[in-house]
Amino acid sequence: MKRTNYAGRTSEEQIGQEVVVKGWVAKRRNLGGLIFIDLWDREGIVQLVFNEEEDQAAFEVANQARNQYILEARGLVRARAEVNPDIATGKIEIEVKEANILAKSQTPPFEVQDDVDASEDLRLKYRYVDLRRPKMMNYLKLRSKVTSVVHNYFDNNDFMDIETPELTRSTPEGARDYIVPSRVYPGHFYALPQSPQLFKQLLMAAGVDKYYQIAKCFRDEDLRGDRQPEFTQIDTEMSFAEPEEIQEMAEGLIKRVMKEAVGVDVPTPFPRMQWQEAMDKYGSDKPDTRFDMLIQDVSDLVKDSSFKVFSATVEAGNFVRAIVVSGGADKYSRKDITKKEDYIKRYGAKGLAWVKVTEEGYNGPVAKFLNDDASALNERLDAKVGDLILFVAGSFHVVCDSLGYLRESIAAEMELIDEDKFNYLWVVNWPMFEYDEGFGKWIAAHHPFTMLNEDDLHYLEEGEDPHKAHAQSYDIVLNGNEIGGGSIRIHDPEVQEKVFKALGYTKETAQSRFGFLIKALENGMPPEGGMAFGLDRWVMLLAHADSIRDVIAFPKNSKAVEPLTAAPGTVDDEQLDVLHLTIQEKGTDDAE
Ligand code: AMO
Ligand code: AMP
Repeated sequence: MKRTNYAGRTSEEQIGQEVVVKGWVAKRRNLGGLIFIDLWDREGIVQLVFNEEEDQAAFEVANQARNQYILEARGLVRARAEVNPDIATGKIEIEVKEANILAKSQTPPFEVQDDVDASEDLRLKYRYVDLRRPKMMNYLKLRSKVTSVVHNYFDNNDFMDIETPELTRSTPEGARDYIVPSRVYPGHFYALPQSPQLFKQLLMAAGVDKYYQIAKCFRDEDLRGDRQPEFTQIDTEMSFAEPEEIQEMAEGLIKRVMKEAVGVDVPTPFPRMQWQEAMDKYGSDKPDTRFDMLIQDVSDLVKDSSFKVFSATVEAGNFVRAIVVSGGADKYSRKDITKKEDYIKRYGAKGLAWVKVTEEGYNGPVAKFLNDDASALNERLDAKVGDLILFVAGSFHVVCDSLGYLRESIAAEMELIDEDKFNYLWVVNWPMFEYDEGFGKWIAAHHPFTMLNEDDLHYLEEGEDPHKAHAQSYDIVLNGNEIGGGSIRIHDPEVQEKVFKALGYTKETAQSRFGFLIKALENGMPPEGGMAFGLDRWVMLLAHADSIRDVIAFPKNSKAVEPLTAAPGTVDDEQLDVLHLTIQEKGTDDAE
């Protein structure tokens, strides 16, 4: 039998016509001489009706069918006696004349429905069953729609789609590399790309002018709900472009994706926020602007406070900053606040001072120290009776990270966030370098190929502090998530060498790792720049999905394991020999 249409697309226009549909049994109800089956395919569900008296052979097939069996059915489309408003095909059903079982299925490992109660690992182990859930299939469809718009947009704007190698040398994007041993060259390794960064720059040297690629990237880093070891970028690069031209190109893409894939008009241009302002007011380099509760500085008001924690902090050149939780006095108990205080210790906060604003003044453990300054504080903070004020005293990063976290977690708890909003925002003018506490050294805030602001180039000279320099870089933020970032690149070999030096590379290391880039800069490199979007993260936000894993067909779990094939796995000794490898400590089991 040849399929006439997707089951889920059977329509009222087909009433009276014969159709053939094929799909999975989503539900089956046996009412004696009458069996109803909801037949599912990727487009939805249609109700099949089997009548024992009229079509006995077909009825017998329905009788044997079980959940997740695959059927083909030929029958007549007819209007339903009782309309089901919950499904798209709810006005019709198919009176089946002929049916066959095309495949049987074991009892599914979990109920194939949107509200699934199975663990994520079980879902990932049976991912092909999991993806039959309508919600999951819709995520895949949305992602496919987004990539189709992406190809279309770049194609119409003179961009060339060019692949770059997966077996390559390390590109520093701040994570560990996944490496692949070479069979031919003992002790040598390829690295999987953390991004196509250097190759796209080399394509500009080649004269490609406008490049894009939907590119796989690999980073061995700590996983979170919005991070995968293997993820996808919409990667772009443009010669001769100013930052504004690159941002305009990105805004054009976002506008098209929002319109065609999500059905929402977003006004452009998006707001631009200085990195410094983002940190000061939102405590984050990826501010969520869907709600206010802005961070405010009160250092000047408390510099002579009798509360020594505050006055000593200001004395030491650090900051006292606060957020006001409007109406938070009743909502947050002392115990709740202590929990938050414990949490922000991970950011280096020494404590969390708080007061509740009452008619009689401040209330709370440190109220007695702050009551003298209450009227000035309330005026600065616009705090009112019934509000909760949270203060953190400390260094710039401690204060920003702590209050930034408190702002977001409290907004979520107090339901201040309008989930229907799509707030796109550029964060611009980043510092060129940042100090990495973990590594104990200065690293590039974006990557080492980022161009500094022209006015800041002097910071690279002998005797100046390079770490004061800002860069021509920008991130695109959606609802408090970094969905992309980019920069103008260095195209002057001398500037590039100075930046390597500021990052602590010796001349020799820079030459051995990036000699090929310096050579390209010496051989006709145009001024250029670009950016990359994190496709998975963006689609996750567009879909309102719970985790990045939901919008990837076969993702790794939070422990970097792919449970369906049980990767990573061991390999046999022969394979290791060929690769000139010996394993010091061999795990016995495959990953689970
Ligand atoms: P960057 O490192 O900022 O820039 O990456 C670009 C975007 O990719 C997404 N992303 C991730 N998504 C999922 N899992 C991960 N582990 C992960 N890491 C990053 C983020 C991020 O904004 N070559 C530069 C771009 C450029 O300068 O043109 C780069 O890779 O959404
Ligand atoms: P202590 O003097 O350490 O007992 O702290 C007294 C109060 O000040 C407690 O409520 C602490 O949570 C708070 N506190 C201590 N250090 C800080 C800080 N750096 N920022 C904000 N509050 C603090």
